Amino acid sequence: MDKIKAIDKAIHRYYRSHNVVSSDLIDAILYSVESGGKRIRPMILLDLLEGFGLELTAAHFDVAAALEMVHTGSLIHDDLPAMDNDDYRRGRLTNHKQFDEATAILAGDSLFLDATGLIARADLDVTIKLDLMQHLSHCSGTFGMVGGQMLDMKGEGKSLTLDQVQLIHANKTGTLLVFPFMAAGLIAKQTDAVIRQLEQAGRLIGQAFQVRDDILDVTADFETLGKTPNKDLTAGKSTYPALLGLDQSYAVLEDSLNQAIAIFQEMARKASFKPDAIVAMIERLRCHA
Ligand code: IPE
Ligand code: IPE
Ligand code: MG
Ligand code: MG
Ligand code: MG
Repeated sequence: MDKIKAIDKAIHRYYRSHNVVSSDLIDAILYSVESGGKRIRPMILLDLLEGFGLELTAAHFDVAAALEMVHTGSLIHDDLPAMDNDDYRRGRLTNHKQFDEATAILAGDSLFLDATGLIARADLDVTIKLDLMQHLSHCSGTFGMVGGQMLDMKGEGKSLTLDQVQLIHANKTGTLLVFPFMAAGLIAKQTDAVIRQLEQAGRLIGQAFQVRDDILDVTADFETLGKTPNKDLTAGKSTYPALLGLDQSYAVLEDSLNQAIAIFQEMARKASFKPDAIVAMIERLRCHA
């Protein structure tokens, strides 16, 4: 079975594993999960684990699924009228448009809270699970994605400095991309030094990913994005293209991706790590003018 199918199966397994309290809630959750998406965060985790020589188990797919659940919850909330007010996501109506606002808020709440439960019951060492839960909570909440979303909302309509924009990106997007890199290091029982390298690569990919998202917002069409283009300008968001122009934004993207690839090439020289899959994934994040 391909990895993306196995991630989706782990999410479905979780929602089938208890007596249903509200089928309306589960329908709304699965609507957004099943809308697809690139699944880049869980795929980074799984490709890295294989790179460290591990054979993938159901527990690894549970951790990957938990991360995708938090990410999907963040998108449902990001699209709400009180936030970015978007009508389309992943090529379909947004959750609040398909259902209603209360349902979308609750579906997001569920996805955030269910993720910890899924990791807690995964078949992994208790100490590893505790570390994973602590990191996922840190990367998702007040000191990560949610904190960054707050800065993003407060920054709307203001002219921010590049440092302020970087801080927003590092938190609203960066931290949930750092998680799969660190999680892979923890699960594969790597040294602190390797975990620090993984964290650094995660930060670079996190930065690259939001710069890329902001570039695509102004250069790509609805078909490619699955969401409404040109949203950032209308919403008065400070983005890399708005601050630096497109050419320099492409250069920042390239530079961050190159630095991340260099980390994996060095890791492959020093430890027994196969970099091919992760390097190929990073290469796919390039986009050219
Ligand atoms: C979109 O993330 C939101 C950002 C953090 C930029 P993705 O581009 O990974 O969205 P999906 O999961 O593929 O829909
Ligand atoms: C998304 O940033 C950050 C999170 C969802 C946490 P954006 O608001 O730019 O993402 P899109 O463009 O709506 O996917
Ligand atoms: Mg947003
Ligand atoms: Mg948005
Ligand atoms: Mg965007």
